[in-house]
Amino acid sequence: MDSLSSTYYAAAWLATVALLLLSLRPRHLNRPPGPKPWPIIGNLNLMGSLPHRSIHDLSQKYGEIMQLKFGSHNVVVGSSVEMAKVFLKTQDANFACRPKTAAGKHTTYNYSDMTWSPYGPYWRQARKICLMELFSVKRLESFEYIRVEERNSMLKSIFESAGKEFPLKDVLSTVSLNVISRMVLGKRYLDKSENSVVSPDEFKKMLDELFLLNGVFNIGDSIPWIDFLDLQGYVKRMKAVSKKFDRFLEHVLDEHNGRRTAEGEKFVATDMVDLLLQLADDPNLDVKLERHGVKAFTQDLLAGGTESTAVTVEWAIAEILKKPEIFKKATEELDRVIGKNRWVQEKDMPNLPYIAAIAIEAMRIHPVAPILVPRRAREDCKVAGYDITEGTRVFVSVWTIGRDPKFWDKPEEFCPERFIGKEVDVKGHDFKLLPFGAGRRMCPGYNLGLKVVQGTLANLLHGFDWKLPNTMTKDDLNMDDLTKDNLDKPEIFEKATEELDWVIGKNRWVQEKDMPNLPYIEAIVFEVMLLHPVAQLVTTLTKEPKCLDNREGPEVMGQTGRFLSRKIHWKGSRCQGPRLQIVTIWCRTKDVPRVQPRT
Ligand code: HEM
Repeated sequence: MDSLSSTYYAAAWLATVALLLLSLRPRHLNRPPGPKPWPIIGNLNLMGSLPHRSIHDLSQKYGEIMQLKFGSHNVVVGSSVEMAKVFLKTQDANFACRPKTAAGKHTTYNYSDMTWSPYGPYWRQARKICLMELFSVKRLESFEYIRVEERNSMLKSIFESAGKEFPLKDVLSTVSLNVISRMVLGKRYLDKSENSVVSPDEFKKMLDELFLLNGVFNIGDSIPWIDFLDLQGYVKRMKAVSKKFDRFLEHVLDEHNGRRTAEGEKFVATDMVDLLLQLADDPNLDVKLERHGVKAFTQDLLAGGTESTAVTVEWAIAEILKKPEIFKKATEELDRVIGKNRWVQEKDMPNLPYIAAIAIEAMRIHPVAPILVPRRAREDCKVAGYDITEGTRVFVSVWTIGRDPKFWDKPEEFCPERFIGKEVDVKGHDFKLLPFGAGRRMCPGYNLGLKVVQGTLANLLHGFDWKLPNTMTKDDLNMDDLTKDNLDKPEIFEKATEELDWVIGKNRWVQEKDMPNLPYIEAIVFEVMLLHPVAQLVTTLTKEPKCLDNREGPEVMGQTGRFLSRKIHWKGSRCQGPRLQIVTIWCRTKDVPRVQPRT
């Protein structure tokens, strides 16, 4: 009996152990195809200076759904209409979360804004406030006078500088910033006349920086254990820009609260900040809105609304300069529909299909977010038969979809005619054209964005004839999607030559023995090696992670570390416009824009 029971217990014990081992065995997952990852860096070495281009090239090789590894994170990329539909529609709820990133943490009050906040009650409430209060049809209509005044002010300034060279982007950023500031903050805040805490130029620089930092691939987001080193110096920059915004936003909130207190019972909310502050005092709100939430939300709207519209219009004008026949067709339409005696109004847009087609074609070929803002899988799921595990980051390559030859004839060609006579939707229903994304996380400001882009573009074409400065031909126009950091390259070259001139002088070539005296040149070499590592460097990193630390590593790596944190940064994934220096040669209409404040 005894031996029977011990045999029985032994068998039961063995069965339990076997079951336990089976459950611990790694599940065999059927992952989407993709390149083999390196230890530690994963596939980061395959990302070039324009990550959306690298991802596009990889997707041509691995297909409409592929898996990459960014450091320790799984990244799945969807780059076809079918995949976009799955991620943004069929399984949208599962992919409606955002990954945690340094940008979200450091620039948006610890994910308290709408863009980076995780899917949940806080985000839902923010979205509801936004859609019901700021972007409702009624609210947008009631703010039309602001768009008209600001547009007239822009046209007047261009009119006055006819024949002179000026950077178009500055004018465009000013108009969109002024529109959005007046809607959200109640006034421009950045007028020179205002006793402002920040100058307009400084504020635009802050927005540029914020836009860039929210689109960069921060290496610490992918390889968390080196995050503290802040190798590219991005986190430092994020903290710095965030501090500047905070000073500005504190001033804005104090002023708004001041008016509320002074007006007491008679107080009526007139702008978004007023509304948000009122909501912050509401005890019945589903999720408490704190002061930092009001600031994060306000900053989100300022940043989301300014650059995107300005960049889109700038691209459209750049494409038109390349193809004068488009300008001719556009002005024919404008002259026929509007005539030469007045400016274009928003209500004219349905009668200007060619102008609308130019704007949409600019969004197709130069999407502001060529890879949609990353999403994160909330649970394990299957897509196209492949396993996607919880926490996987999901990218949708709008860049690739907008160039898919299955849907677009001559996809690389700028051709507004392709939309003429067709029903076009850019509001997230047609998955081959997704400039504003789709689904739960789709851009909430699309209606305002479209109004500002179309209205500005129509009037720029209606009012003026454009040309490049005399020193440039249309072939000189660089239509590559530049990121701000690409534009920083000349600065690196300048610094490198400065060092060479200083150390070597102009009378001889560089010798090998000069290298220890050329730390900047050496650091460039190491930066390239770090970003595009060869096997040798990977091994070094694997064995001696400390060598990346500039205090303890060998001297050369130390220099790289110091260099990385100060001077070079990896390129962002957001498209910036081509920075047109532009000249108006003559004004097509004799009507000087009237800049009348509303009575
Ligand atoms: C031409 C103009 C614009 C373009 C092309 C654009 C594009 C986009 C895109 C592609 C996304 C990501 C969507 C996704 O993840 O699926 C987005 C998100 C967002 N946009 Fe826009 N946008 C524009 C104008 C605006 C304006 C005017 C505002 C506000 C004033 C705004 C505020 C936002 C916000 C807050 C989000 C984050 C939404 C969320 O995560 O829930 N955008 N935008």
